[in-house]
Amino acid sequence: MLMNRPYVFCYMAPSLNGKIKGSYRKKLEEENSDATKLFYVEGFTPEGRYGDNQGVMCGRLTTDENLTKFKKPELDTNAEIVKAGDFIAKDINLDNKFYISVDPKGKIAWQNSTIKFGNLTNNIIEIITNETSNEYKDFLRRKNISYIIAGDKNIDFETALMKLKKLFKIEKLMLGGGGILNWSLIQQNLCDEISLLVMPTADGSPDTPSLFQSKDGMSGDKPVSFNLKTVEKKGNIAWLTYTINNNN
Ligand SMILES: NC(=O)c1ccc[n+]([C@@H]2O[C@H](COP(=O)([O-])OP(=O)(O)OC[C@H]3O[C@@H](n4cnc5c(N)ncnc54)[C@H](OP(=O)(O)O)[C@@H]3O)[C@@H](O)[C@H]2O)c1
Repeated sequence: MLMNRPYVFCYMAPSLNGKIKGSYRKKLEEENSDATKLFYVEGFTPEGRYGDNQGVMCGRLTTDENLTKFKKPELDTNAEIVKAGDFIAKDINLDNKFYISVDPKGKIAWQNSTIKFGNLTNNIIEIITNETSNEYKDFLRRKNISYIIAGDKNIDFETALMKLKKLFKIEKLMLGGGGILNWSLIQQNLCDEISLLVMPTADGSPDTPSLFQSKDGMSGDKPVSFNLKTVEKKGNIAWLTYTINNNN
């Protein structure tokens, strides 16, 4: 299996009660600003523990909330039918990192074909489906943004991961949330490691998403068990890593 797809590790910074969004983050910034720095340095810089990853994969809500701010893409309703199949951006630099956007309905309003995290340029790759509109594929081509087609209505992650390895030479991939995306890969046995920087804050909100979250039509709620591999104290943070039992 792993011969054909990247190694996938899920890297997240949940609150003490396993939430990934909410006012706990503000409290964290106020009282433990080193915590978010640690998360960034270890995951997103060359000197960090996961400095050798080649890209991060995120769900549509995470991308919209943090990067593209729920803007609407400028679609051309008169666009000609685009060539069938995947699209690899012209003159792509495969030495860059990748930002892989899981966007089955074609909603994300990218402005450019790359985004920067710190000093590092990331090539954007959109993961779309056979149902994604021609207009959106045309939009991506006009922006010179690579896309992979995987699945009919829902994303077929096995195919998506195989294509990421084959077409973009991605061997090590961060699964970067949110909870709906994380759980989709875990349910399908496509995640090799969980790495959590458990933040020392919580807010108790019943309305915010969790680290793992099932969604009708995307994933089920079959229980999964994990093997604890490492426990480290980093100041006020517990850094936990797990593998996933493959008998799930
Ligand atoms: N604390 C942290 O470390 C951390 C890290 C990352 C994100 N976050 C936060 O997490 C929140 C978002 O998490 P979330 O769980 O609500 O959403 P999410 O996983 O970011 O995005 C969910 C969306 O992605 C697409 N998607 C995911 N799995 C799919 C599947 N199996 N098949 C087809 N499409 C799929 C769907 O897009 P459509 O709706 O378009 O169909 C789905 O609604 C944000 O607030 C973000 O800031 C926190």
